[in-house]
Amino acid sequence: MTRDIPQATSAALLLDWYDRHHRGLPWRISPAMARGGVVADPYHVWLSEVMLQQTTVQAVKAYFEKFLALWPTVDDLAAADTEDVMKAWAGLGYYARARNLKKCAEAVVRDHDSRFPDSEEGLKALPGIGDYTAAAIAAIAFNRRSAVLDGNVERVISRLHAIETPLPAAKPEMRTLVREFTPADRPGDFAQAMMDLGATICTPKRPACSLCPFHPDCRALKTADPETFPRKAAKKEKPLRLGAAFVAVAVDDAIYLRKRPETGLLGGMTEVPGTDWTARRDGDSSIDARPFPASWEPCGTVSHVFTHFELRLSVFRARVGRADAGEARTGTSGWWEPMASLKEQALPTVMKKAIAKAIPHAFEAG
Ligand code: ADE
Repeated sequence: MTRDIPQATSAALLLDWYDRHHRGLPWRISPAMARGGVVADPYHVWLSEVMLQQTTVQAVKAYFEKFLALWPTVDDLAAADTEDVMKAWAGLGYYARARNLKKCAEAVVRDHDSRFPDSEEGLKALPGIGDYTAAAIAAIAFNRRSAVLDGNVERVISRLHAIETPLPAAKPEMRTLVREFTPADRPGDFAQAMMDLGATICTPKRPACSLCPFHPDCRALKTADPETFPRKAAKKEKPLRLGAAFVAVAVDDAIYLRKRPETGLLGGMTEVPGTDWTARRDGDSSIDARPFPASWEPCGTVSHVFTHFELRLSVFRARVGRADAGEARTGTSGWWEPMASLKEQALPTVMKKAIAKAIPHAFEAG
């Protein structure tokens, strides 16, 4: 490991850069306040960090504001209806996180007197808080000198030290380097500065090295092409699964929906009737799998990439009478949802894609 980079100087340079160029984000406090010893609200930091594991900073802003408007404190979220939380989360994906969000709020209220624990260990004991989130909350909300390592930070540190070990094997080495690099003064701002630098200057493609405070120190810039870091192990292709989704539309334009089982992938989310998603290629994803007889017409396919597989769904559409799709016919209990309120349903992205494939204007109504 190369540790000959002047860490203290570089950390101070980075904080200087952050003072001038930080992104103003709704869950952050300003560097001026941080310098005065103020820390951000742990509830805000936790909520934003969990959301940021799902999508971009830009996309999270609106979700964060919505959650705070609905549930201003951790007590409010703990007391919320789980279904409402799932609906507010819809679109962020990976719904186990939304379920854990609610469970975590309940645990904070029940076991910690409504105050988040102030150490990495204490935070990690809560539902849905892993190594990264615990380190980020401890640093940003409690000024702990914890090593915060996300994708942006991995890129910055791998370039700064020209780490040749590919990811994910390089993570322990990167964590050690970040731990040594993190200053005792303003560790939360330091963590966020590393993230901002990775997001705005030390970008995956065409990094703006001339604007970087680490410019004189960066080993990748001196010895190689920064863009080629972090080194990555070759990716395995994701297996393909197939399935079918059936969008039944009633005369009044309502759509037949049902709830997925509580456990398993997308547990408890809303869907249109469909098949299991299997790796088999024997017709289970064809019209033969229709949930009830109707004039089903094929609308094409939609694809969606999950963590462990890629899904290709054949989408079918039919106009039906309300009496044609019911528990007796489909074997599952569902309901007719007016098109105008589809947006309020806890529909995972893959289901939104399937419905939009069958009815392109479905999410414009209302
Ligand atoms: N990505 C994840 N957490 C972040 C944060 N606190 N600031 C900026 N980007 C982030």
